Amino acid sequence: MTQLAGKHIVLGLSGGVACYKSAHLCRLLTKAGATVQVVMTEAAEQFITPVTMQALSGRTVYGSQWDAREPNNMPHINLSREADAVLVAPCSADFIAKLAQGRADELLSLLCLARPIERIPLLLAPAMNREMWAHPATQRNLAQVAQDGALVLGVGVGDQACGETGDGRMLEPEELLEELQAFFAPKLLQGKRLLITAGPTFEAIDPVRGITNLSSGKMGFAIAAAAKAAGAQVTVVAGPVHLATPRGVQRINVQSAQQMLAAVQSQVDSADVFIATAAVADWRPANAAEQKLKKDGSGEVPALAFVENPDILATVAKSERAQHGALYCVGFAAESHDLLQHATAKRQRKGVPLLVGNIGPATFGQDDNALLLVDAQGHSELPRASKALLGVQLVQELARRLAAVAH
Ligand code: C5P
Repeated sequence: MTQLAGKHIVLGLSGGVACYKSAHLCRLLTKAGATVQVVMTEAAEQFITPVTMQALSGRTVYGSQWDAREPNNMPHINLSREADAVLVAPCSADFIAKLAQGRADELLSLLCLARPIERIPLLLAPAMNREMWAHPATQRNLAQVAQDGALVLGVGVGDQACGETGDGRMLEPEELLEELQAFFAPKLLQGKRLLITAGPTFEAIDPVRGITNLSSGKMGFAIAAAAKAAGAQVTVVAGPVHLATPRGVQRINVQSAQQMLAAVQSQVDSADVFIATAAVADWRPANAAEQKLKKDGSGEVPALAFVENPDILATVAKSERAQHGALYCVGFAAESHDLLQHATAKRQRKGVPLLVGNIGPATFGQDDNALLLVDAQGHSELPRASKALLGVQLVQELARRLAAVAH
Protein backbone atom coordinates (compact mmCIF):
# COMPACT_ATOMS: atom_id res chain seq x y z
CA MET A 1 0.00 0.00 0.00
CA THR A 2 1.05 3.58 -0.42
CA GLN A 3 -0.14 5.01 2.88
CA LEU A 4 3.36 4.87 4.35
CA ALA A 5 5.24 6.32 1.39
CA GLY A 6 7.16 9.37 2.57
CA LYS A 7 6.07 8.97 6.19
CA HIS A 8 8.67 9.34 8.93
CA ILE A 9 8.21 6.87 11.77
CA VAL A 10 10.00 6.90 15.08
CA LEU A 11 10.17 3.21 16.00
CA GLY A 12 10.74 2.85 19.72
CA LEU A 13 11.87 -0.46 21.21
CA SER A 14 11.47 -1.11 24.92
CA GLY A 15 12.65 -4.25 26.69
CA GLY A 16 11.13 -7.54 25.61
CA VAL A 17 12.00 -10.66 23.68
CA ALA A 18 9.69 -9.43 20.89
CA CYS A 19 12.48 -6.96 19.98
CA TYR A 20 13.68 -9.51 17.42
CA LYS A 21 10.40 -9.06 15.55
CA SER A 22 10.94 -5.30 15.42
CA ALA A 23 13.94 -5.88 13.19
CA HIS A 24 11.59 -7.40 10.61
CA LEU A 25 9.03 -4.66 11.23
CA CYS A 26 11.69 -2.03 10.53
CA ARG A 27 12.43 -3.75 7.22
CA LEU A 28 8.72 -3.88 6.30
CA LEU A 29 8.27 -0.18 7.09
CA THR A 30 11.19 0.90 4.94
CA LYS A 31 10.04 -1.39 2.13
CA ALA A 32 6.62 0.31 2.31
CA GLY A 33 8.33 3.64 1.66
CA ALA A 34 8.65 5.02 5.19
CA THR A 35 11.79 6.39 6.78
CA VAL A 36 12.42 4.88 10.19
CA GLN A 37 14.28 6.40 13.12
CA VAL A 38 14.91 3.78 15.76
CA VAL A 39 15.08 4.70 19.44
CA MET A 40 15.96 1.95 21.93
CA THR A 41 15.80 1.78 25.70
CA GLU A 42 18.67 0.21 27.63
CA ALA A 43 16.48 -2.82 28.29
CA ALA A 44 15.78 -3.22 24.55
CA GLU A 45 19.54 -3.33 23.92
CA GLN A 46 19.68 -6.46 26.10
CA PHE A 47 17.58 -8.24 23.47
CA ILE A 48 18.83 -6.90 20.14
CA THR A 49 21.76 -4.69 19.20
CA PRO A 50 21.51 -1.16 17.81
CA VAL A 51 23.85 -2.37 15.05
CA THR A 52 21.09 -4.56 13.60
CA MET A 53 18.53 -1.78 13.80
CA GLN A 54 20.93 0.75 12.28
CA ALA A 55 21.67 -1.56 9.35
CA LEU A 56 17.96 -2.15 8.71
CA SER A 57 16.82 1.45 9.12
CA GLY A 58 19.83 3.05 7.46
CA ARG A 59 20.05 5.57 10.33
CA THR A 60 22.03 5.70 13.52
CA VAL A 61 20.01 4.51 16.47
CA TYR A 62 19.35 6.77 19.45
CA GLY A 63 19.46 5.43 22.96
CA SER A 64 20.37 8.26 25.26
CA GLN A 65 18.83 11.60 26.12
CA TRP A 66 22.40 12.88 26.53
CA ASP A 67 23.34 12.09 22.91
CA ALA A 68 25.77 14.85 21.95
CA ARG A 69 25.37 14.23 18.21
CA GLU A 70 22.46 16.65 18.21
CA PRO A 71 23.82 20.22 17.99
CA ASN A 72 21.34 21.41 20.62
CA ASN A 73 21.75 18.19 22.63
CA MET A 74 18.00 17.68 22.59
CA PRO A 75 17.27 14.44 20.74
CA HIS A 76 13.92 14.15 22.54
CA ILE A 77 12.74 17.37 20.91
CA ASN A 78 14.34 16.95 17.49
CA LEU A 79 13.32 13.32 16.93
CA SER A 80 9.73 13.81 18.02
CA ARG A 81 9.16 16.97 15.96
CA GLU A 82 10.25 15.23 12.73
CA ALA A 83 7.93 12.22 13.16
CA ASP A 84 4.60 11.55 11.48
CA ALA A 85 4.02 8.96 14.19
CA VAL A 86 5.80 7.32 17.10
CA LEU A 87 5.33 3.55 17.29
CA VAL A 88 6.60 1.74 20.38
CA ALA A 89 7.00 -1.94 19.50
CA PRO A 90 7.53 -3.84 21.67
CA CYS A 91 5.94 -1.78 24.39
CA SER A 92 6.70 -3.46 27.73
CA ALA A 93 4.50 -3.40 30.83
CA ASP A 94 7.09 -1.20 32.48
CA PHE A 95 7.12 1.23 29.58
CA ILE A 96 3.31 1.49 29.65
CA ALA A 97 3.53 2.22 33.39
CA LYS A 98 6.06 4.97 32.69
CA LEU A 99 3.83 6.51 30.02
CA ALA A 100 0.82 6.35 32.35
CA GLN A 101 2.78 8.30 34.96
CA GLY A 102 4.34 10.73 32.52
CA ARG A 103 7.84 9.73 33.56
CA ALA A 104 10.79 10.74 31.43
CA ASP A 105 14.02 9.34 32.81
CA GLU A 106 15.36 7.96 29.51
CA LEU A 107 15.14 9.02 25.87
CA LEU A 108 12.14 7.02 24.62
CA SER A 109 9.72 7.95 27.42
CA LEU A 110 11.10 11.50 27.39
CA LEU A 111 10.43 11.73 23.68
CA CYS A 112 6.88 10.39 24.07
CA LEU A 113 6.18 12.96 26.76
CA ALA A 114 7.79 15.79 24.81
CA ARG A 115 5.96 15.13 21.55
CA PRO A 116 3.25 17.63 20.56
CA ILE A 117 0.34 15.46 21.64
CA GLU A 118 -2.21 16.81 19.15
CA ARG A 119 0.10 16.56 16.12
CA ILE A 120 2.28 13.46 16.59
CA PRO A 121 0.29 10.27 17.23
CA LEU A 122 1.65 7.62 19.59
CA LEU A 123 0.91 3.98 18.77
CA LEU A 124 1.74 1.19 21.21
CA ALA A 125 2.25 -2.51 20.46
CA PRO A 126 2.28 -4.13 23.90
CA ALA A 127 4.29 -7.32 24.45
CA MET A 128 4.48 -9.22 27.71
CA ASN A 129 3.70 -12.40 29.61
CA ARG A 130 -0.01 -13.17 29.91
CA GLU A 131 -0.09 -12.64 33.70
CA MET A 132 1.57 -9.26 33.31
CA TRP A 133 -0.95 -8.38 30.59
CA ALA A 134 -3.93 -9.46 32.71
CA HIS A 135 -2.66 -7.72 35.88
CA PRO A 136 -5.00 -4.95 37.01
CA ALA A 137 -2.06 -2.53 37.19
CA THR A 138 -1.26 -3.06 33.49
CA GLN A 139 -4.90 -2.80 32.46
CA ARG A 140 -5.28 0.35 34.56
CA ASN A 141 -2.17 1.86 32.94
CA LEU A 142 -3.39 0.91 29.46
CA ALA A 143 -6.72 2.61 30.08
CA GLN A 144 -4.82 5.69 31.27
CA VAL A 145 -2.48 5.92 28.26
CA ALA A 146 -5.44 5.40 25.91
CA GLN A 147 -7.27 8.21 27.69
CA ASP A 148 -4.15 10.35 27.29
CA GLY A 149 -4.37 9.89 23.52
CA ALA A 150 -2.20 6.85 22.73
CA LEU A 151 -3.53 4.26 20.32
CA VAL A 152 -3.10 0.84 21.92
CA LEU A 153 -2.91 -1.73 19.14
CA GLY A 154 -3.85 -4.80 21.13
CA VAL A 155 -1.99 -8.07 21.47
CA GLY A 156 -1.89 -11.49 19.89
CA VAL A 157 -2.78 -14.77 21.56
CA GLY A 158 -0.60 -17.85 21.57
CA ASP A 159 2.66 -19.41 22.72
CA GLN A 160 4.88 -17.11 24.73
CA ALA A 161 8.65 -17.16 25.10
CA CYS A 162 8.20 -18.04 28.80
CA GLY A 163 6.50 -21.29 27.81
CA GLU A 164 3.01 -20.16 28.79
CA THR A 165 0.13 -19.66 26.40
CA GLY A 166 -2.28 -16.75 26.33
CA ASP A 167 -2.76 -13.05 25.62
CA GLY A 168 0.17 -10.67 25.52
CA ARG A 169 2.26 -11.55 22.47
CA MET A 170 3.23 -8.61 20.34
CA LEU A 171 1.28 -8.48 17.08
CA GLU A 172 3.26 -9.91 14.16
CA PRO A 173 5.30 -7.40 12.10
CA GLU A 174 2.93 -7.83 9.14
CA GLU A 175 -0.04 -7.06 11.39
CA LEU A 176 1.68 -3.97 12.79
CA LEU A 177 2.42 -2.80 9.24
CA GLU A 178 -1.25 -3.27 8.40
CA GLU A 179 -2.28 -1.31 11.52
CA LEU A 180 0.03 1.57 10.64
CA GLN A 181 -1.16 1.68 7.04
CA ALA A 182 -4.75 1.67 8.22
CA PHE A 183 -3.93 4.45 10.67
CA PHE A 184 -2.70 6.72 7.86
CA ALA A 185 -5.39 5.80 5.32
CA PRO A 186 -7.99 8.51 4.62
CA LYS A 187 -11.32 7.31 6.00
CA LEU A 188 -13.10 7.42 2.65
CA LEU A 189 -15.54 4.62 3.48
CA GLN A 190 -16.24 5.51 7.11
CA GLY A 191 -19.48 3.93 8.25
CA LYS A 192 -19.98 1.90 5.05
CA ARG A 193 -20.59 -1.84 5.21
CA LEU A 194 -18.95 -3.90 2.47
CA LEU A 195 -19.57 -7.50 1.51
CA ILE A 196 -16.93 -9.06 -0.75
CA THR A 197 -16.70 -12.50 -2.34
CA ALA A 198 -13.17 -13.75 -3.02
CA GLY A 199 -11.24 -16.74 -4.30
CA PRO A 200 -12.37 -19.76 -6.27
CA THR A 201 -15.17 -22.15 -5.45
CA PHE A 202 -14.70 -25.89 -5.09
CA GLU A 203 -17.39 -28.08 -6.58
CA ALA A 204 -17.29 -31.61 -5.22
CA ILE A 205 -17.23 -34.66 -7.47
CA ASP A 206 -16.93 -37.02 -4.49
CA PRO A 207 -15.73 -36.58 -0.87
CA VAL A 208 -12.09 -36.20 -1.94
CA ARG A 209 -12.20 -34.71 -5.43
CA GLY A 210 -13.63 -31.65 -7.01
CA ILE A 211 -13.45 -28.95 -9.64
CA THR A 212 -11.91 -25.59 -8.88
CA ASN A 213 -9.85 -22.88 -10.57
CA LEU A 214 -6.63 -20.94 -10.12
CA SER A 215 -8.07 -17.86 -8.40
CA SER A 216 -5.93 -17.01 -5.35
CA GLY A 217 -8.32 -14.56 -3.68
CA LYS A 218 -5.55 -11.96 -3.48
CA MET A 219 -7.48 -9.21 -5.29
CA GLY A 220 -10.57 -9.59 -3.11
CA PHE A 221 -8.52 -9.72 0.09
CA ALA A 222 -6.56 -6.63 -0.99
CA ILE A 223 -9.82 -4.73 -1.54
CA ALA A 224 -11.05 -5.94 1.86
CA ALA A 225 -7.88 -4.70 3.60
CA ALA A 226 -8.01 -1.33 1.83
CA ALA A 227 -11.72 -0.88 2.59
CA LYS A 228 -11.18 -1.75 6.25
CA ALA A 229 -8.30 0.73 6.43
CA ALA A 230 -10.61 3.32 4.86
CA GLY A 231 -13.01 2.92 7.79
CA ALA A 232 -15.49 0.40 6.35
CA GLN A 233 -16.96 -2.59 8.15
CA VAL A 234 -15.96 -5.48 5.91
CA THR A 235 -17.13 -9.08 5.53
CA VAL A 236 -15.37 -11.43 3.12
CA VAL A 237 -17.03 -14.61 1.90
CA ALA A 238 -14.00 -16.64 0.87
CA GLY A 239 -13.71 -19.79 -1.19
CA PRO A 240 -10.80 -22.14 -0.37
CA VAL A 241 -7.74 -19.82 -0.30
CA HIS A 242 -4.56 -19.76 1.75
CA LEU A 243 -4.57 -16.14 2.78
CA ALA A 244 -4.48 -14.47 6.18
CA THR A 245 -7.62 -12.53 7.02
CA PRO A 246 -6.90 -8.78 7.04
CA ARG A 247 -7.10 -7.46 10.60
CA GLY A 248 -10.58 -6.45 11.64
CA VAL A 249 -12.25 -8.08 8.64
CA GLN A 250 -14.97 -10.65 9.25
CA ARG A 251 -14.45 -13.82 7.22
CA ILE A 252 -16.88 -16.57 6.26
CA ASN A 253 -15.27 -19.60 4.64
CA VAL A 254 -17.21 -21.56 2.03
CA GLN A 255 -16.44 -24.22 -0.55
CA SER A 256 -19.09 -24.32 -3.26
CA ALA A 257 -20.97 -21.69 -5.26
CA GLN A 258 -24.20 -22.68 -3.52
CA GLN A 259 -22.61 -22.17 -0.10
CA MET A 260 -21.18 -18.85 -1.28
CA LEU A 261 -24.64 -17.71 -2.41
CA ALA A 262 -26.18 -18.75 0.93
CA ALA A 263 -23.47 -16.90 2.89
CA VAL A 264 -23.88 -13.80 0.73
CA GLN A 265 -27.65 -13.86 1.14
CA SER A 266 -27.29 -14.11 4.92
CA GLN A 267 -25.17 -10.94 4.97
CA VAL A 268 -26.24 -8.78 2.06
CA ASP A 269 -29.28 -7.13 3.67
CA SER A 270 -27.01 -5.17 5.98
CA ALA A 271 -24.46 -4.20 3.31
CA ASP A 272 -24.10 -0.88 1.47
CA VAL A 273 -21.73 -2.28 -1.15
CA PHE A 274 -21.35 -5.75 -2.66
CA ILE A 275 -18.14 -6.55 -4.54
CA ALA A 276 -17.98 -9.88 -6.36
CA THR A 277 -14.33 -10.71 -6.99
CA ALA A 278 -14.78 -14.47 -6.59
CA ALA A 279 -14.13 -16.72 -9.54
CA VAL A 280 -17.29 -18.75 -9.10
CA ALA A 281 -17.49 -22.05 -10.96
CA ASP A 282 -20.09 -21.78 -13.72
CA TRP A 283 -21.07 -25.43 -13.37
CA ARG A 284 -20.98 -28.13 -10.70
CA PRO A 285 -21.18 -31.89 -10.99
CA ALA A 286 -24.89 -32.78 -11.13
CA ASN A 287 -24.65 -35.52 -8.53
CA ALA A 288 -21.66 -35.49 -6.23
CA ALA A 289 -20.96 -39.08 -5.16
CA GLU A 290 -21.30 -39.73 -1.45
CA GLN A 291 -18.42 -42.17 -1.51
CA LYS A 292 -15.10 -41.95 -3.29
CA LEU A 293 -15.37 -43.04 -6.93
CA LYS A 294 -13.21 -46.15 -7.34
CA LYS A 295 -11.17 -47.28 -10.31
CA ASP A 296 -12.30 -50.88 -10.87
CA GLY A 297 -9.68 -51.94 -13.41
CA SER A 298 -12.20 -52.28 -16.24
CA GLY A 299 -10.87 -49.16 -17.97
CA GLU A 300 -14.28 -47.49 -17.71
CA VAL A 301 -14.22 -43.79 -16.79
CA PRO A 302 -16.95 -42.10 -14.76
CA ALA A 303 -19.38 -40.00 -16.76
CA LEU A 304 -19.72 -36.54 -15.25
CA ALA A 305 -22.85 -34.52 -15.85
CA PHE A 306 -23.00 -30.84 -14.88
CA VAL A 307 -25.64 -28.36 -13.80
CA GLU A 308 -25.31 -24.60 -13.87
CA ASN A 309 -24.47 -22.77 -10.65
CA PRO A 310 -26.47 -19.76 -9.48
CA ASP A 311 -25.03 -16.44 -10.57
CA ILE A 312 -24.40 -14.78 -7.22
CA LEU A 313 -23.69 -11.31 -8.55
CA ALA A 314 -26.66 -11.24 -10.94
CA THR A 315 -28.94 -12.53 -8.16
CA VAL A 316 -27.82 -9.81 -5.75
CA ALA A 317 -27.94 -7.11 -8.45
CA LYS A 318 -31.59 -7.99 -9.12
CA SER A 319 -32.59 -7.58 -5.46
CA GLU A 320 -34.85 -4.72 -4.47
CA ARG A 321 -32.19 -2.89 -2.45
CA ALA A 322 -29.75 -2.98 -5.38
CA GLN A 323 -32.45 -1.86 -7.80
CA HIS A 324 -33.34 1.09 -5.56
CA GLY A 325 -29.73 2.17 -5.10
CA ALA A 326 -29.46 1.14 -1.43
CA LEU A 327 -26.88 -1.50 -2.37
CA TYR A 328 -24.08 -0.60 -4.79
CA CYS A 329 -22.88 -3.67 -6.73
CA VAL A 330 -19.45 -4.13 -8.29
CA GLY A 331 -18.67 -7.04 -10.59
CA PHE A 332 -15.36 -8.37 -11.88
CA ALA A 333 -14.66 -9.89 -15.25
CA ALA A 334 -11.67 -12.06 -15.99
CA GLU A 335 -11.20 -12.18 -19.74
CA SER A 336 -8.48 -13.39 -22.06
CA HIS A 337 -8.98 -10.81 -24.84
CA ASP A 338 -11.11 -7.82 -25.97
CA LEU A 339 -11.37 -6.70 -22.35
CA LEU A 340 -13.28 -3.46 -22.90
CA GLN A 341 -15.87 -5.05 -25.15
CA HIS A 342 -16.47 -8.03 -22.85
CA ALA A 343 -16.46 -5.92 -19.67
CA THR A 344 -18.97 -3.47 -21.15
CA ALA A 345 -21.28 -6.30 -22.21
CA LYS A 346 -20.90 -8.02 -18.83
CA ARG A 347 -21.83 -4.84 -16.96
CA GLN A 348 -25.10 -4.73 -18.90
CA ARG A 349 -25.78 -8.42 -18.52
CA LYS A 350 -25.14 -8.50 -14.78
CA GLY A 351 -27.01 -5.25 -14.23
CA VAL A 352 -24.33 -3.59 -12.07
CA PRO A 353 -23.23 0.08 -11.99
CA LEU A 354 -19.50 -0.76 -11.97
CA LEU A 355 -17.70 -3.62 -13.67
CA VAL A 356 -13.97 -4.14 -13.20
CA GLY A 357 -12.21 -6.02 -15.97
CA ASN A 358 -8.89 -7.80 -15.79
CA ILE A 359 -7.01 -10.27 -17.93
CA GLY A 360 -7.48 -13.72 -16.34
CA PRO A 361 -4.10 -15.34 -16.99
CA ALA A 362 -2.34 -12.11 -15.95
CA THR A 363 -4.05 -11.95 -12.57
CA PHE A 364 -4.80 -15.46 -11.26
CA GLY A 365 -2.31 -16.20 -8.48
CA GLN A 366 -0.23 -13.08 -9.23
CA ASP A 367 0.70 -10.35 -6.76
CA ASP A 368 0.04 -7.62 -9.26
CA ASN A 369 -2.67 -6.85 -11.76
CA ALA A 370 -4.10 -4.11 -14.01
CA LEU A 371 -7.75 -3.06 -13.92
CA LEU A 372 -10.21 -1.57 -16.36
CA LEU A 373 -13.17 0.19 -14.77
CA VAL A 374 -16.37 0.35 -16.79
CA ASP A 375 -19.39 2.31 -15.61
CA ALA A 376 -22.25 4.31 -17.16
CA GLN A 377 -19.88 7.25 -17.78
CA GLY A 378 -17.34 5.24 -19.77
CA HIS A 379 -14.12 3.50 -18.86
CA SER A 380 -10.80 4.22 -17.16
CA GLU A 381 -7.69 2.22 -16.40
CA LEU A 382 -5.74 1.49 -13.24
CA PRO A 383 -2.34 0.55 -14.64
CA ARG A 384 -0.34 -2.49 -13.59
CA ALA A 385 0.57 -2.35 -9.89
CA SER A 386 0.52 -4.54 -6.79
CA LYS A 387 -2.93 -5.80 -5.85
CA ALA A 388 -2.49 -4.03 -2.50
CA LEU A 389 -2.10 -0.69 -4.28
CA LEU A 390 -4.92 -1.45 -6.72
CA GLY A 391 -7.13 -2.23 -3.72
CA VAL A 392 -6.41 1.24 -2.32
CA GLN A 393 -7.06 2.88 -5.70
CA LEU A 394 -10.27 0.94 -6.22
CA VAL A 395 -11.49 2.06 -2.79
CA GLN A 396 -10.86 5.67 -3.88
CA GLU A 397 -12.80 5.10 -7.12
CA LEU A 398 -15.61 3.43 -5.21
CA ALA A 399 -15.81 6.23 -2.62
CA ARG A 400 -16.07 8.79 -5.44
CA ARG A 401 -18.92 6.88 -7.08
CA LEU A 402 -20.77 6.36 -3.79
CA ALA A 403 -20.56 10.09 -3.09
CA ALA A 404 -21.92 10.83 -6.59
CA VAL A 405 -24.82 8.39 -6.11
CA ALA A 406 -25.65 10.00 -2.75
CA HIS A 407 -26.08 13.47 -4.34
O1 C5P B 1 -20.06 -14.42 -15.88
P1 C5P B 1 -18.73 -14.26 -15.27
O2 C5P B 1 -18.31 -15.43 -14.41
O3 C5P B 1 -17.63 -13.88 -16.21
O4 C5P B 1 -18.90 -12.99 -14.29
C1 C5P B 1 -17.93 -12.58 -13.45
C2 C5P B 1 -18.54 -11.81 -12.31
O5 C5P B 1 -19.71 -12.42 -11.82
C3 C5P B 1 -17.63 -11.74 -11.11
O6 C5P B 1 -17.90 -10.56 -10.41
C4 C5P B 1 -18.03 -12.98 -10.34
O7 C5P B 1 -17.68 -12.88 -8.96
C5 C5P B 1 -19.52 -12.99 -10.53
N1 C5P B 1 -20.13 -14.33 -10.56
C6 C5P B 1 -20.97 -14.72 -9.54
N2 C5P B 1 -21.57 -15.95 -9.59
C7 C5P B 1 -21.35 -16.79 -10.62
C8 C5P B 1 -20.50 -16.41 -11.66
C9 C5P B 1 -19.89 -15.18 -11.59
O8 C5P B 1 -21.15 -13.95 -8.59
N3 C5P B 1 -21.94 -17.96 -10.64
